[in-house]
Amino acid sequence: MPSTTTPTSTSTGPATTTTTDTDTTTTTDTDTDTDTDTDTDTDTDTDTDTDTDTDTDTVKAQPRNKVIAVTGASSGIGRATALALAQHGATVVLGARRGDRIEQLAAEIRENGGRAVGVPTDVRRRTDLVRLVDTAVARFGRLDVLVNNAGIGPISPLEDLRVDDWDDMIDVNLRGVLHGIAAALPVFRRQEAGHFVTVASTAAYRTVPGQAVYAATKTAVRTVCEGLRQEVGDLRVTIVSPGFVHTDFADAVADPDARAALLARRDAMALDPTSIADAITYAVAQPDQVDVNEIVVRPTAQR
Ligand SMILES: NC(=O)c1ccc[n+]([C@@H]2O[C@H](COP(=O)([O-])OP(=O)(O)OC[C@H]3O[C@@H](n4cnc5c(N)ncnc54)[C@H](OP(=O)(O)O)[C@@H]3O)[C@@H](O)[C@H]2O)c1
Repeated sequence: MPSTTTPTSTSTGPATTTTTDTDTTTTTDTDTDTDTDTDTDTDTDTDTDTDTDTDTDTVKAQPRNKVIAVTGASSGIGRATALALAQHGATVVLGARRGDRIEQLAAEIRENGGRAVGVPTDVRRRTDLVRLVDTAVARFGRLDVLVNNAGIGPISPLEDLRVDDWDDMIDVNLRGVLHGIAAALPVFRRQEAGHFVTVASTAAYRTVPGQAVYAATKTAVRTVCEGLRQEVGDLRVTIVSPGFVHTDFADAVADPDARAALLARRDAMALDPTSIADAITYAVAQPDQVDVNEIVVRPTAQR
């Protein structure tokens, strides 16, 4: 379980980090900036992996050897996922709009001996996703996994005609995922390896009143990912669909009564975000030849 896993590295702190890993990887980071726009980073990463483990499949089957970018890492499921993966030894590249939050999380991970960098990212902008992916490659040499998690849910009945909210959900939930695919696919192709993990929703399987547009975006994402899986062949594609999870997600609901009802339901039954992080970690940790395609995780009480 991620929550009980202790990082195997030691660190002298986030600004100047010296990491000594049990697989004898030695990393020296002189990390002065996380924003690639004004990057004054003088990363002198000198990984010298002298791992004596000769079982290649076993080595690859661990998140600890992977470089993983996570969108929507500033709160909720994305944050929990970044922490879980980092606790398993993965290097994480954190994307979200709230740069202060991702920088704080990256610092927390580095203070605990992990490797993390924050990249302010708005998934509505294709160039931001390119920058997220490019940062992973420039800083850590490759990108193994893209977790397309960022999403919003300002749900309402269609009759309310909250057209701006519809547009926002399409832009973030669907277009944002497409931007992630467009940014990472060329890198994965070049590497001849890579893994797309996309956070959809049980709304992709069951549409309920008030969630028509949200469910449409998540159904579309599920369809895109299945098409991607069929097209890419040797790359891995996973869709993780959560039911009700205890995050800030319901805050975006405009109608106060609807929001209060949703929050009451959330508090009564919602899962902790670590349950979804565990599912993502499971998919990521599989050996290269094992492609976990779909995981649906609901609270037991949810219908
Ligand atoms: N909570 C649930 O019950 C539930 C159920 C099923 C599926 N999901 C899905 O789980 C995913 C994560 O949601 P959550 O529950 O963890 O909610 P959350 O706590 O509100 O987190 C949403 C994350 O998405 C990011 N985000 C929103 N708009 C963005 C944008 N334009 N660009 C980049 N990042 C953006 C937010 O960061 P910034 O605001 O800092 O940008 C935040 O980190 C979403 O895809 C959601 O649809 C949630």
